[in-house]
Order: sequence, then structure tokens, then C-alpha cells
Amino acid sequence: MHDSERELLFDEWAEHYDESVNEWSRGFPFEGYEAVLDEIARLAHPKPGLSVLDVGIGTGRLAERFVNAGCEVWGMDFSSRMLAKVHEKLPQVELVKADLLGHWPLPSDRRFDRIVSAYVFHEFDLESKTRLISTLAGHHLVEHGRMVIGDVSFPSEYVRDQASEKWAEIWDKDESYWAADEAREALHRVGLEAYYHQVSICGGVYVIEIDGEQA
Ligand SMILES: C[S@@+](CC[C@H](N)C(=O)[O-])C[C@H]1O[C@@H](n2cnc3c(N)ncnc32)[C@H](O)[C@@H]1O
Repeated sequence: MHDSERELLFDEWAEHYDESVNEWSRGFPFEGYEAVLDEIARLAHPKPGLSVLDVGIGTGRLAERFVNAGCEVWGMDFSSRMLAKVHEKLPQVELVKADLLGHWPLPSDRRFDRIVSAYVFHEFDLESKTRLISTLAGHHLVEHGRMVIGDVSFPSEYVRDQASEKWAEIWDKDESYWAADEAREALHRVGLEAYYHQVSICGGVYVIEIDGEQA
């Protein structure tokens, strides 16, 4: 599917996104959705005044946790209708419409204290995930900053393979669900150490710090 078609798909989903994730929060792939978002926020250690970039902000479900903590929040997404939803709910959030894999609209020296994301990176294959995380960490995170990413994820390739059999009927072969062992290895190869927390049966959170400290 082309990026423009995916964009349209998310535009259509925007209207009922909040209801659908609430409804699907039991079972694959959204099991533990709220707990994953809570864990991202907890591990990001939000404080008033911190600058936070939420990549793939959707309707703002993760971003609202940082707004409530007094952070200065920016959100990026390629779906205009998702961004419109955020604007209705959280007008204080600075919104940027962009394809995360396309032209990067932020100034190359614009850095954030935290970069966070929820349920977005499974859209990208492992190579694209690694490249995007590396670019974000290298160009848009402050020194001693922290990136926290939660998504559909399994502790290992073995567990992911088992899950793909268990949920064969609803497993989307076009999506690249995370396996922590392969992702940590791929990130290590580009000089980044990631720490992983499994939150639900199919949801987990990655923490990446450019100074190498643990979460
Ligand atoms: C499943 S939703 C997650 C939204 C939100 N982060 C949450 O947890 O509820 C995925 C979001 O990523 C956005 N997205 C997917 N691929 C993208 C891309 N290539 N560039 C920018 N945004 C993208 C979609 O428009 C959508 O808002």
C-alpha cells in the first residue's frame, strides 16, 4: 500500500479511533493499550517545562499525559484528520503535519528533552525503524535526553512467531510488529542501547538514551 493510501486510511480512522482502541483493548493487537501509554509516560519522567515530541500523535491519547504534566508538547503525524482531533482536545499542542519517513519539516537543530511514540513504529520495517530512531536520537534529542517508544511488541522473535500462529486470522502481514531481541540488536549496531519492558501479552515499551544510561 502506498503512503498516500495509508494516510487516507488513518484519516478515515480518526473519527472513531478513540472508541475503537477502547473497544479493542482486550486481545491482540491492542491488549493493554492504556497500560502501555501509562508506562511510556512513567518512563519518560515528565516534568513541567520539559519539551516533548510525540511522533505519530494520532488523536493525542499519549500527548495528553504530557500536557497534564505541564510539558511543552509537539506532535507530528501525516493524517490531517488525526491532527484536527488533537487540536480540538489539546489546543496548546504544537502540531506538525509530516510523513515520518519523508521530508523532515523540523529545523535540523530543533531538539527535545523527550521523544515519545505509541503504536506507530510497527508501520515501518526494522531497517526503517532503526534509521528513524537513529535520526531522531542524533538530531532531535538533547544530550541526556530520552526516547520512549511503546507499540505492539514481543520479547523475542520466537515469541512473535508463536503469536503470529495464535492470532493468524487477525495478524496483519503488512505490519512489522517488534521483537525486542532483534530490535535491540539492530539498535546496538547503530550505537544505541535500548532497554525493554513487556507491558501486556503483545505490548511493550523501549527506552533509548543517547548517553547510555538505563531507565
Ligand atoms: C495506531 S495510531 C497511534 C496514535 C497514537 N500515538 C496512540 O497511541 O493512540 C498510528 C498513528 O501514526 C500515524 N502514522 C502512521 N504512519 C505514519 C507516517 N509514515 N508518518 C506520520 N504519521 C504516521 C497515523 O496517522 C496515526 O495517527
